[in-house]
Amino acid sequence: KHEWDKHGTCAAMLESLNSQKKYFSKALELYEKLDLNSYLLKLGIKPGNTYYQLGVIKEALTSVYNVTPKIQCLSPEQGEEVQTIGQIKFCFTKDFILRNCTESKVDSCPACGNMPFGTEELSTCNDTLTNYPSHVLLYK
Ligand SMILES: *[C@@H]1O[C@H](CO)[C@@H](O)[C@H](O)[C@H]1NC(C)=O
Ligand SMILES: *[C@@H]1O[C@H](CO)[C@@H](O)[C@H](O)[C@H]1NC(C)=O
Repeated sequence: KHEWDKHGTCAAMLESLNSQKKYFSKALELYEKLDLNSYLLKLGIKPGNTYYQLGVIKEALTSVYNVTPKIQCLSPEQGEEVQTIGQIKFCFTKDFILRNCTESKVDSCPACGNMPFGTEELSTCNDTLTNYPSHVLLYK
């Protein structure tokens, strides 16, 4: 409900996404097509207690997709220095072609919320040691 209310109703400006069924079907289709988890594994980036420099993860992703996704992290716990990946965002054109997230957004929808539910604590990852957690993080 949250994803539809917050993001779907904005995406529904597009004919191809103008119903809940279309929106969620497309999301699943893109998710399967990206196959992010398998590609990361193939590139030797495994979830768990191994730490990676952010640049290594970024380069791996760019080598597969030829675009740079937006990687957002949770800041290190107090007294620690490893940030944790919270989410990896891929950006698409309106025709669902991957594009660099860094490119400026043309006619973005003003009503679109940027923050998914429960991710207020996420910020752009710093160029430092990064944990790719093996489980879904629970936010406070
Ligand atoms: C994304 O940006 C990189 C580096 O600037 C560039 O090499 C690549 O071609 C871009 N990809 C697309 C799909 O525009
Ligand atoms: C990145 O570094 C800045 C400046 O030190 C800090 O404010 C921010 O919280 C850090 N972000 C993460 C995800 O650790």
